[in-house]
Amino acid sequence: MRILLSPDAAGAGEIAATLVAASLRDLPAPVLGVATGSSPQPLYRALAARVHAGLDLSRTTAFALDEYVGLPVDHPESYHAVIAREVTAPLGLDAERVHVPEGAAADPVAAAARYEAAIVAAGGVDLQILGIGANGHIGFNEPGSDADSRTRIVELAPRTVADNSRFFDGDAGRVPTHALTQGIGTILAAREIVLVAWGESKADAVARAVEGPQTAELPASFLQRHARVTLVLDHAAASKL
Ligand code: GLP
Repeated sequence: MRILLSPDAAGAGEIAATLVAASLRDLPAPVLGVATGSSPQPLYRALAARVHAGLDLSRTTAFALDEYVGLPVDHPESYHAVIAREVTAPLGLDAERVHVPEGAAADPVAAAARYEAAIVAAGGVDLQILGIGANGHIGFNEPGSDADSRTRIVELAPRTVADNSRFFDGDAGRVPTHALTQGIGTILAAREIVLVAWGESKADAVARAVEGPQTAELPASFLQRHARVTLVLDHAAASKL
């Protein structure tokens, strides 16, 4: 694992944006894996600035990592809505080429299989952007997720429900209990991975992901299996390494 450091989150976002732009720039039809959450925000801001300066991402196909099950796509906190607002528009992506798992599908099991097949049909992900949960989850692969797991329905961990209640007026009872997420195996199939983490609340998970044993108890530790992973961290997130 390669680790790049910056004093603060904005600097980490700049570094990560440079990596993403460099990887996608020369590909005729790039496939980008995108993540929600606060972690990639500085990266998206820095990448949006590059788009304003002439970087063209309009031919990029994008696949989001995950989506809540049972939340209508037009709910402002559905990942469909979040990706449209925070990724598709600011990065100048073509909305027709941006895919998010169908968490509101009548048959989410079939939707999971369709999503996995769509990623393969697109030629696989060239570069996957990741955040990390405080419990070490990536996507919504909670502790207990297998290294070879694929896109599927998962139950959210109590810690994740509590963490994400901030998006639902602080009311954990309004956070969906389940999600559709790419699996660890799906994520590891990306040709390159850039994980962004900042803030002290991520320091434990980052240290265990990098230095701990590979274990389903800390799903991000399976990233150690991938040959091209870069962690871009601020000093606080790196403080326990
Ligand atoms: C969310 C998302 C993850 C994200 C993580 C951390 O629930 N499903 O993709 O990486 O939790 O979120 P944040 O970056 O806001 O701390």
